[in-house]
Amino acid sequence: MSRKAEIPAQAGLDPAELRRDFPILERQVHDRPLVYLDSAASSQKPRPVLDAVQRYYTHHHSNVHRGVHELSVEATDLYERSRERVAAFIGAESARECVFVRGTTEGLNLVAQAWARPRLEPGDEVLVTEMEHHSNIVPWQQVCRQTGAELRVAPMDDAGDLLADEFEALIGPRTRVLAITQVSNALGTVNPVAELAQRARAAGAVVVVDGAQAVPHRPVDVRTLGADFYAFSGHKMYAPTGIGVLWGRLELLESMDPWEGGGSMIRSVTFEETLFAPPPARFEAGTPHIAGCVGLGAAVEYLEGLGMDAVRAHEEALLEYCVKELQAIPGLNLIGRPAQRAGAVSFTADGVHPHDLGTFLDREGVAVRVGHHCAQPVMKHYDIPATARASFGVHNGPDDVDALCRSIRGALEFFA
Ligand code: ALA
Repeated sequence: MSRKAEIPAQAGLDPAELRRDFPILERQVHDRPLVYLDSAASSQKPRPVLDAVQRYYTHHHSNVHRGVHELSVEATDLYERSRERVAAFIGAESARECVFVRGTTEGLNLVAQAWARPRLEPGDEVLVTEMEHHSNIVPWQQVCRQTGAELRVAPMDDAGDLLADEFEALIGPRTRVLAITQVSNALGTVNPVAELAQRARAAGAVVVVDGAQAVPHRPVDVRTLGADFYAFSGHKMYAPTGIGVLWGRLELLESMDPWEGGGSMIRSVTFEETLFAPPPARFEAGTPHIAGCVGLGAAVEYLEGLGMDAVRAHEEALLEYCVKELQAIPGLNLIGRPAQRAGAVSFTADGVHPHDLGTFLDREGVAVRVGHHCAQPVMKHYDIPATARASFGVHNGPDDVDALCRSIRGALEFFA
């Protein structure tokens, strides 16, 4: 039986066909066909997204919310239509709950500074997990230092799953914030966020979810998840860089002061007093990344066209195949074996530093990320400096996994 025949059905998505949607995948790297396995760092862009951005700048560009002239009206319309599309995509009750930000990092910082900072007091606790990206650690560390609150950390086991009893023991009346990733960027762990959020909210905490590695890979419904805030990035979900979304419950957003002042976020300004616009404009000071928003709307449309259930099924089957094939390589160590995985798999190879492995793979045309993946506490847990990480997008298929495994075997042989 050929390898391909062993792979579970790909749920209707044909990666060979989807590959043609991504012009960059036609290029060669070091005279080899590009095998792109770094979508967790940043996804490539399909033609409909590239076209939407090009069309916007070619035909519709002007500033938003500022002009009565036709181009400004058209730009504003495109910008707000993207917001509506994003809101529907993540199950928001209203587009007013979706704030355009630069990305997940900015969204999380916004919550830490505009929601948490004025509310936290000495003795309060912010609970994060051991597997967070630095973007969901550092803003909370900063706000704890600013307010006297305490940062607590829910540990994980060696499989890369959160320890349920330890988590439970850390939730209490002093927990004001639970900041948790839905999917770990370093390990691929899918956390049971709905269950944990329910527990945290019952204790009176606000639940802030880092959705950067979840939104590109599975259907997300922020309400079912039980989140209060949910942040994600456009560039990991086939949209341009520099654009992302912070979703928040409207009543929370309405209760917050802006964190940046400037144009567009005001109702009126005098030298004595400024009245702020309602959300989301309150949090969008200055000219926004309009083309990025247009591209984000196109990316959402692209994913909706594929169907998020199909995307999830396709990628889960591919990950399962990848894990199985990696396990069969002597000298390869999987880092983390979470109960549920999405998007990525991390590994090391005996006798090969991850950076050397990454460089060797690159010479073969295989792009993976190596390093600590902005999750140094995860590396500390496993007592390693770095891993190699393969991460997937809709255009990846079993051939990409085969190319990865072939190159890893080559590296192990080369460095032996
Ligand atoms: N957070 C991105 C990653 O995991 C950059 O690679």
